[in-house]
Amino acid sequence: MTQKIAVLGAGKIGEALLSGMIRAGWSPSDLLVTARRPERAEELRTRHGVTAVTNAEAAKTADTLILAVKPQDMAALLDELAPHVPADRLVVSAAAGIPTAFIEERLAQGAPIVRVMPNTPVLVDEGMSVISAGTHATEAHLVRTEEIFQPVGKTLRVPESQQDAATALSGSGPAYFYYLVEAMTDAGILLGLPRDKAHDLIVQAAVGASVMLRDSGEHPVKLREAVTSPAGTTISAIRELERHGVRAALIAALEAARDRSRELASGGNG
Ligand SMILES: NC(=O)c1ccc[n+]([C@@H]2O[C@H](COP(=O)([O-])OP(=O)(O)OC[C@H]3O[C@@H](n4cnc5c(N)ncnc54)[C@H](OP(=O)(O)O)[C@@H]3O)[C@@H](O)[C@H]2O)c1
Repeated sequence: MTQKIAVLGAGKIGEALLSGMIRAGWSPSDLLVTARRPERAEELRTRHGVTAVTNAEAAKTADTLILAVKPQDMAALLDELAPHVPADRLVVSAAAGIPTAFIEERLAQGAPIVRVMPNTPVLVDEGMSVISAGTHATEAHLVRTEEIFQPVGKTLRVPESQQDAATALSGSGPAYFYYLVEAMTDAGILLGLPRDKAHDLIVQAAVGASVMLRDSGEHPVKLREAVTSPAGTTISAIRELERHGVRAALIAALEAARDRSRELASGGNG
């Protein structure tokens, strides 16, 4: 049976998903998109061969609706969709910090909602999409959602109560690594290296370390110990990291991100 999927508000994340689905074998003729601006709709049509429709048309025709608008645009989009979405339609929301209850309240009673928190590496097929079921979403709905997000990286299921923690680790996660690369590049400059060379060295160290972490299955402590020889260079650096409380800073930083995610999810502006 043909299953039509619509991406509503196909911006950066929505387009990454579309191209992932097409690469994974979905036919562009089964993919619908909606956009606020006609020129954006045209761009998606030419680039991917998908069909651009209105939000109402998407709600009526597609079997799965992926809501990929910004969190602040979600209430308006749901108001527009509500009269048209049949109660059995799977609705997948990728909007950061919007609880499934927020969507359930605005759509037909019993509507299956799945919440997904992707991160920006979906743009290079190395994302992590953290998936939670709403009140009426079944195993089949979760599997369907995984099929949509797997072409752009990994997926992980968590209870919705853990989404704020997952956002702190995974949604914001890439930013912490960019921050580290930036700081370590500055250190390279202090040590007398040109910026571009310092950048290349640190980025390749990050890529190499990430692949080792992912593919070796070793605990990070073991991998670090393998580079930490007695009275060597690495341990001198580690002593400074410990002295400056970097581990405690990271724990506090992620706790702050988790708290902010909670605040936003409950409609607070901070
Ligand atoms: N980017 C990230 O790092 C990231 C990570 C995790 C989750 N997310 C979530 O993913 C969602 C999308 O983020 P994004 O970065 O892809 O944002 P984006 O590039 O701004 O995409 C959202 C698109 O939705 C369009 N839009 C807004 N209201 C609409 C409506 N009523 N009907 C049709 N289209 C509408 C916007 O149109 P205009 O172009 O006219 O504004 C825009 O093209 C957000 O909710 C965000 O929280 C993003």
